[in-house]
Amino acid sequence: MQNKKGIVIGISGASGSILGIEVLRALRDFENIETHLVVTKLATQTILHETKLSMATVHRMADYYHPINSLSATIASGSVDLMGMIVVPCSMKTLAGIASGYSDNLLLRAADVSMKERRKLVIVPRETPFSGIHLRNLSFLHDQGVVILPAMMTFYHQPETIQDMVDYLVGKILSQFDLVYGKYKPWEGKLDL
Ligand SMILES: Cc1cc2nc3c(=O)[nH]c(=O)nc-3n(C[C@H](O)[C@H](O)[C@H](O)COP(=O)(O)O)c2cc1C
Repeated sequence: MQNKKGIVIGISGASGSILGIEVLRALRDFENIETHLVVTKLATQTILHETKLSMATVHRMADYYHPINSLSATIASGSVDLMGMIVVPCSMKTLAGIASGYSDNLLLRAADVSMKERRKLVIVPRETPFSGIHLRNLSFLHDQGVVILPAMMTFYHQPETIQDMVDYLVGKILSQFDLVYGKYKPWEGKLDL
């Protein structure tokens, strides 16, 4: 346990809850990483709507699951040493909460702590189209050092299934923490033209 490094996974109520779940699943293969999961109320609904998983199953995928209102949880404090946090998917409401520092739930507080402690914070926004307010919040957080990694479709790796697309995005997210995900193959620089 001593050498383990903690990453907080925040799943908010944007579509694409499977992205957060697959990040959690992928991180289980990294022995020195321990995951802290926090799920918003709306994310509980999107998970039940978009996947066939029960919430108990999702909670068990993490090393530690923290209820959204547990503002006294370890991850609410900057004194607990963590590597950083991934908000995936990130709704526009949670984005606004992070951008304004309005930390009225544990996900928002953990993101606030990540920023104040200058830890890596990766946000995976999912909305289309973006409004000016969304873009302003994204731009502001980018300027604060937050990595904005949108849930965008990619085709150059020639995906055949939705899972291929999800795996690719999971790989991109984990690479932000220098973690190499086996199902993700970076572009090799070859084009058969
Ligand atoms: C099925 C479903 C899909 C949604 N998809 C999105 C989305 O992709 N992006 C978004 O910003 N909000 C989306 N919403 C709206 C958010 O869930 C809503 O703004 C909520 O208040 C977000 O709360 P949270 O950030 O605390 O999870 C969706 C809602 C539902 C019910």
